[in-house]
Amino acid sequence: MRPTEIRSAETLDGVIQLTEPTLLARYARSPPSCPTASVPAMSRLEGRVAVVTGAGSGIGLAAARRLRADGADVVCVDLDDAAARAAAEQVGGLAVTADVAAPDDVTRIYASAADRFGRIDVALHNAGISPPEDDSILTTGLDAWRRVQEVNLTSVYLCCQAVIPYMQRAGRGSIINVASFVAVMGSATSQISYTASKGGVLALSRELGVQFAREGIRVNALCPGPVNTPLLTELFAADPERAARRLVHVPMGRFAEASEIAGAISFLAGDDSSFVTASTFLVDGGISGAYTTPL
Ligand SMILES: NC(=O)c1ccc[n+]([C@@H]2O[C@H](COP(=O)([O-])OP(=O)(O)OC[C@H]3O[C@@H](n4cnc5c(N)ncnc54)[C@H](O)[C@@H]3O)[C@@H](O)[C@H]2O)c1
Repeated sequence: MRPTEIRSAETLDGVIQLTEPTLLARYARSPPSCPTASVPAMSRLEGRVAVVTGAGSGIGLAAARRLRADGADVVCVDLDDAAARAAAEQVGGLAVTADVAAPDDVTRIYASAADRFGRIDVALHNAGISPPEDDSILTTGLDAWRRVQEVNLTSVYLCCQAVIPYMQRAGRGSIINVASFVAVMGSATSQISYTASKGGVLALSRELGVQFAREGIRVNALCPGPVNTPLLTELFAADPERAARRLVHVPMGRFAEASEIAGAISFLAGDDSSFVTASTFLVDGGISGAYTTPL
């Protein structure tokens, strides 16, 4: 669309502001670029550098593998030193042992990535916890509440704050913050701090996506449905009825595999998603769209 054509949209709600002379002039000087999507799958992320937090297990490990398979250099971050090293070894990347809830550790993560690879194109903020002490609001103590908020939400604030300046300098970047389907749906089997933390990740991501859109930085909240990972299996191991109670709400009748979430992460990381930002990116097997499910 050329600037003159924007004027013809003056009567449409929400578009009228585009007719302001300064915005029109800016649009004319540098029309938004649209990267081509005709790159072969294996090289989609060739030359890109991706930082993955919580890369030692579950979704993070599957994502590290997938991003590497797509051609990216991967920085594997985890609190668990052995897990970080094992993941990095698998993908031929850099291991960084760090606590994403600790400000100094977070600064070190992105400095190490930039030192080693000279750039940061993708930041997957995935590390998270779901401890059993986090339960109904009536029984969850303040310590459990705070710990979950620190690891799941404050960490995303710290990581975004640390990585955005690198992306601003490059004039591009894709940040993927892992929230959850519980950010958009209520559950009677409550984990109150976890749910609140993911709601925070969703709102924070949306705001950053809007704020930095014109600097070429995309920020999306990925909201997985229940996934077959240690986090979930540990939770249900002691109580199969707990798993069954949840499965009935999934139209697909199964939990996701981590590789399916990694596929969505790969999409959000690369140029195929060049017009996707500030989104609530649900990969949930239809849970959030369901009223009743198939028998
Ligand atoms: N598994 C699910 O069903 C599901 C569903 C929706 C959202 N999620 C979210 O996806 C993300 C990954 O979940 P998962 O199931 O793969 O978990 P997981 O337990 O398999 O892996 C989480 C990884 O994060 C690391 N980690 C934990 N605390 C950390 C910290 N303070 N600093 C650095 N690393 C830390 C752990 O060592 C672990 O390797 C989490 O944010 C989770 O809330 C999971």
